[in-house]
Amino acid sequence: MPTFSRSEPKLALVMVGLPARGKSYIARKLARYLRWRGMETRVCNVGMYRRELVGAQVSHSFFDPANPDGLAERMRVAQIALDDMLRWLELGGQIGILDATNSTRERRAWISKTCAERGAKVVFIETMCQDPGVIDRNVRETKLHSPDYVGVEADAAVRDFIARIAHYERAYQSVEDDEGPYVKVIDEGDKVIVHQIEGNILSHVVFFLMNLRTKRRPLWLVRHGESIFNVEDRIGGDSELSPRGHAFARSLAAFMQTRRTEEPISVWTSQLKRTLQTAQYLREEPFPNRALDEIDAGVCDGLTYAEVRRRHPEEFAARSKDKLNYRYPRGESYADVIQRLDPVIIEIERHERPILIVGHQGVLRALYAYLMDTPPRESPHLPMPLHTVLELTPNAYGCTERRFPLAC
Ligand code: F6P
Repeated sequence: MPTFSRSEPKLALVMVGLPARGKSYIARKLARYLRWRGMETRVCNVGMYRRELVGAQVSHSFFDPANPDGLAERMRVAQIALDDMLRWLELGGQIGILDATNSTRERRAWISKTCAERGAKVVFIETMCQDPGVIDRNVRETKLHSPDYVGVEADAAVRDFIARIAHYERAYQSVEDDEGPYVKVIDEGDKVIVHQIEGNILSHVVFFLMNLRTKRRPLWLVRHGESIFNVEDRIGGDSELSPRGHAFARSLAAFMQTRRTEEPISVWTSQLKRTLQTAQYLREEPFPNRALDEIDAGVCDGLTYAEVRRRHPEEFAARSKDKLNYRYPRGESYADVIQRLDPVIIEIERHERPILIVGHQGVLRALYAYLMDTPPRESPHLPMPLHTVLELTPNAYGCTERRFPLAC
């Protein structure tokens, strides 16, 4: 279902930056986004190769540019990692993300040459940040939990990691124009510089990076309360809530009172009556967005599943075979829904407040697939029960999920 053209060349997105500048965070988020958009994408983390090939617990002196043994080992590990990534691209992958510091011109020139020889286009993604508060947060939130520091007391681990950063700082060279296409994300996206970026995928990559914020806040996904069409097992339409649906709307408002902090919550709904009615008892004014409307069932809108099977047997069979790509006549497929939700995902990444999305089964499956990195093929089959709130809380690189079925 690629929602981008597959004709674009294989891409090697090469991260650049000092340690603790959010490279892995960006690499993983970007990979999740590109996979969600249907591109075969893989992150190749050179640190993981180093841990496997050399060992996790190496002292900061291993990273000293004046240490010839360390340099040779780091080059060996980088070669193996890059080779694996390129082999994966040759075997059908589309976008490889090389997650390492790649902090010297010499290292990057070697990467560019190797990728060009094997048919992959290199784009550097450099993250830069001088804010000591952000660096300290990154060290404490991610590095202290890394296998490199298992069993090491926190202050000693921080000291070692700061010494490791200092080694890299001595040899660090920022990417320059003559090295080819690049994107620089400065101070967590306050400033973004692009150079020689062209094509649909890369434009989306840049737009995604421009909107990526690191603020952690919960996000709740909930289907509208039971509607009259739900009671009749009809799909689509714009029916009102049933009495049970109204009871759920009240339970939802009471539940949200227990989740809120001082921070205001943004409530997003579709433009359909059932989501607006579900949000009506909440303290916040909802923001209705057409992009959140349910999958358009086209000629099947308003029918029950049994009627679809009887009146449109070929359509029913085709949908059962490939639910992701099947498009209802004059309606949409799940792949279409994913494409239409792209601006919603960008807004989620940009938004700094907690968000409650009151949505529909199909649309919430597609959003959930992005948030939880579910393979696109599985997303149309994800369980999304009525009257259950999904609470997704971001952790270092993903989200933790809790489900709350509410009484109504
Ligand atoms: O049945 C409720 C509903 O939201 C319909 O409006 C929609 O067509 C359907 O769920 C989507 O689920 P599925 O893709 O499994 O048919």
